[in-house]
Amino acid sequence: MNAVIPASAHRPIRELPDELVSQIAAGEVVERPASVVRELVDNALDAGAKQVTVRLAGGGVRSLVVEDDGIGIPTGELPLALRRHATSKIASLADLESVATMGFRGEALAAIASVAELSITSRAAGAAQGTRIDARGGELQPAPRAPGTTVEVRELFFATPARRKFLKSDATELAHALEAVRRHALARPDVGFAVWHEGRLVAQWRARTGTDGGGERLADVLGAEFVAASRGLHAVRGPLVLAGRVGLPEAARSRADQQYLFVNGRFVRDRLVAHAVRSAYEDQLHGSRQPAYALFVRIAPELVDVNVHPTKIEVRFRDGRAVHASVQQAVDEVLAQTRAAAPPGPAAPIQEPSPPGAAPWQPSLALAEAREPAPPWLPVGRPGVELPAGGATGLATWALLRGAAGAPAGLPLQRDGAADEWPLGRALAQIGGAYVLAENRHGLVVVDMHAAHERIVYERLKAAQAVGALPSQPLLVPVAFAATAAEVAAAEAEREVLLALGLDVAPLAEATLAVRSRPAALPEADLADLTRSVLAELATVGSSRVVQRTRDELLATMACHAAVRANRRLTVEEMNALLRAMEATERADQCNHGRPTWRQVTIKELDALFLRGR
Ligand SMILES: Nc1ncnc2c1ncn2[C@@H]1O[C@H](COP(=O)(O)OP(=O)(O)OP(=O)(O)O)[C@@H](O)[C@H]1O
Ligand SMILES: [Mg+2]
Repeated sequence: MNAVIPASAHRPIRELPDELVSQIAAGEVVERPASVVRELVDNALDAGAKQVTVRLAGGGVRSLVVEDDGIGIPTGELPLALRRHATSKIASLADLESVATMGFRGEALAAIASVAELSITSRAAGAAQGTRIDARGGELQPAPRAPGTTVEVRELFFATPARRKFLKSDATELAHALEAVRRHALARPDVGFAVWHEGRLVAQWRARTGTDGGGERLADVLGAEFVAASRGLHAVRGPLVLAGRVGLPEAARSRADQQYLFVNGRFVRDRLVAHAVRSAYEDQLHGSRQPAYALFVRIAPELVDVNVHPTKIEVRFRDGRAVHASVQQAVDEVLAQTRAAAPPGPAAPIQEPSPPGAAPWQPSLALAEAREPAPPWLPVGRPGVELPAGGATGLATWALLRGAAGAPAGLPLQRDGAADEWPLGRALAQIGGAYVLAENRHGLVVVDMHAAHERIVYERLKAAQAVGALPSQPLLVPVAFAATAAEVAAAEAEREVLLALGLDVAPLAEATLAVRSRPAALPEADLADLTRSVLAELATVGSSRVVQRTRDELLATMACHAAVRANRRLTVEEMNALLRAMEATERADQCNHGRPTWRQVTIKELDALFLRGR
């Protein structure tokens, strides 16, 4: 049948038959039952429906019906509704440029009708009765119907078996179709939705018309879990009005399956906005972890082009840069509030199963007395707390903190009393060389001291760097260390960047580098180690590429080196200073790698542990 025709052989140019044109066009719009659901529900919403019902059979391939109670289609216009390039939604280019409806191409019904059997039954608001039209024959028949529209689609891709083969199992197609309705449901809390499959109700969302309808619908669709592990966002930023919820870093997922973005009520995938959101999580999320969010963006229709993709799943912003900055800022602000000072709520999952084989808590309480030089944590990011001029040595910082640390050590242990005033409570002891125990109003607080300190140092470095180069402190005796050729080369090539980080590094000999001044904020870091790590990172990025992101990564590396190591013994005063510094630090709830820095164990949980009822 398919004789191979050499590409060079001449074939006459001819116009394609209408049917084939539609089928080609349908290829862009209709990929699977879910695409049909999306188009038909779009139409229902454009018609002002308050209740939309979707009935599927065979995953929507065998039969797919969408009913609405919208304005309906006047009988005389029914044949037009099925024609390509026929629409009631725009009439001019100006309309297109400020389109506020979901549809505007006048193609969806024609496209679907070219790859399936399609009929419409509709009754317009003022009409005495309904009318049915069958796409194939085109004749009109009276049909009983309450005001509104029913579109029925059967045997999707019946005439194009090649495409039908690409469909997956009924269950998979149903899942996709459901997801399409969920997106609509999130965007339109004021509309009720129901989805039936094979006569069974599989999803239903009642119309939410109260003052917080949007919030209620979010909980209905995404679940209480999502709501508990996210924070609300309401902001007017640049050209955008933003609303929705963003997931806490520790509720991030391994897949990007809970990222809902709506632009003017339309679900879209937008790399620009997705990137802006992701960068707000930058230093709180580990590599491939995906934040969960439902973000509703409103923008003047003139500032966004919705006509850039056949299925309208993409948009193009006139000023992408402004949109990016606005989204990043707004999300960033919400995340910054997840600081330690927030009362422990469902935000911080409280009970985490202990890892298998975890040692039982041992009574190795080290109520530390040691007189080591104090660790250099320092509250920053709060007005009123200044970085000491010229940087602080551990002891100088310690002296500064002693004044601020509040609760003196050695108070009698009391469940309610003086411990109330600090969100993270009053330090009691250090265990396992790694954890600080404290008591607050809710019970026990356990702090991972390295992770917490790392976050504090990191935020401090970021704050300092935002003002300019990191202050540096010249060394009386340079610290020399053996270096590889690559390290020496990187030190020379990246001199400027290193200086901005407070590191003056110069080649001393062919295979030796010398650190001549150090970041003043990191008096305790091992300079050879620190410099090597920074050089290694710089070598992989290349200097011209050192953008903010890389800078933050470099600061994170430095913070990790500078943070107090495990097994370092802390005095009770030092522990309290750490707690106070955490409370004053933005994003203190996670370390730079997204792990939690502290956990609350409530009295109730302790009671449960000991089977004690109260
Ligand atoms: N459920 C409905 N209720 C009322 N009118 C409808 C409904 N569905 C379709 N229509 C009418 O039929 C027309 C054609 O619908 P169709 O979906 O093909 O195109 P569109 O929505 O205008 O644009 P697009 O191709 O972008 O979806 C619409 O413009 C609208 O006037
Ligand atoms: Mg449409």
